[in-house]
Amino acid sequence: MLPKHISINEVGARDGLQNEKINISAEEKVKFINLLSLCNYKYIEVGSFVSAKWVPQMKNSDVVYKNIIKNKETIYPLLVPNTIGLKNALESDVKTICVFATASEAFSKKNTNTSIEQTKKNIKEILKIAIKNNIKIRAYMSCVLGCPYEGKVSYKKTANLANFLIDEGCYEVSLGDTVGYGTPLETQKLINEVSNKINFSKIAMHLHDTYGQALANIYASMQMGISSFDTSVGGLGGCPYAKGASGNVATEDVIYMLNGMGVDCGVDLQKVLVASKFIYKILNRNIVSKTASAILSKQT
Ligand code: HMG
Ligand code: MG
Repeated sequence: MLPKHISINEVGARDGLQNEKINISAEEKVKFINLLSLCNYKYIEVGSFVSAKWVPQMKNSDVVYKNIIKNKETIYPLLVPNTIGLKNALESDVKTICVFATASEAFSKKNTNTSIEQTKKNIKEILKIAIKNNIKIRAYMSCVLGCPYEGKVSYKKTANLANFLIDEGCYEVSLGDTVGYGTPLETQKLINEVSNKINFSKIAMHLHDTYGQALANIYASMQMGISSFDTSVGGLGGCPYAKGASGNVATEDVIYMLNGMGVDCGVDLQKVLVASKFIYKILNRNIVSKTASAILSKQT
């Protein structure tokens, strides 16, 4: 039995763009996100309140958030690594934030210059203040199916950390296959372990497509009852602190697969293509998504 409805969380404007070297202005990002807002997503990630020295591309996230046209039914989250980021989020009147953690000690240091234990303390502090301010919190976990620095990461450790994040007040934990090492049976083993600790309805999957496994891993996750997936318009992206990581699974490829299986996700594929074309023109390169390329080549 597959879920009848899938939630698609669009992460292209954050996970997608954070890795891009060319300077993308706040104005261009606003136009891009406004195009995404026409597609009927319920979740569009806008950017990050992180250090501009670490991730320069995200430095205009406050300006972008302020200027986008926001749909009432859509949430527009931004990532927050510490209380400085949270302060900026509060000043921008952000309604949903994402915290991030990992069960890989090496990746934790590379990504946030912080140990796992210190990250947990930071997150507790962030959540205490965010909850008081009626902010919704989503959590990310990186390297759940392998780490570029440590290799295999214990699924049990990931499950325990996921449990901590939900216990502290996050509404969902997105399990990130940061470098795309995962294959379908490993994905199912991971979900099995995590779902021993937290309910399936609180698990999302965030699958980078480096080895072309993301669609297969999504299907394997759906077979386990997972119904929330992060995708990136056109297949944009990567993580600046995970060498070799390519983009998240392309939104267009996921919608095409779901449409073909008769599974509803509510997102308009044709309108996603318009946003894809827009951003890839700015980036001056070809769209990664095979679905987008196939449809667009027929249209021209
Ligand atoms: P640090 O250098 O250890 O921090 O960075 P620090 O406390 O020593 O501060 C250094 C400077 O940064 C100070 O400024 C702080 O004020 C400033 P200075 O005195 O030098 O002028 N600072 C900040 N500025 C703006 N916003 C902040 C902030 N915090 C400190 N929030 C820090 C620690 C966490 C800040 C840094 O490591 C960082 O920003 N890391 C972010 C890394 C990142 O964004 N990674 C990508 C997102 S996660 C991801 O992509 C994975 C995911 O997609 C899932 C998956 O695929 O796995 C979610
Ligand atoms: Mg990612």
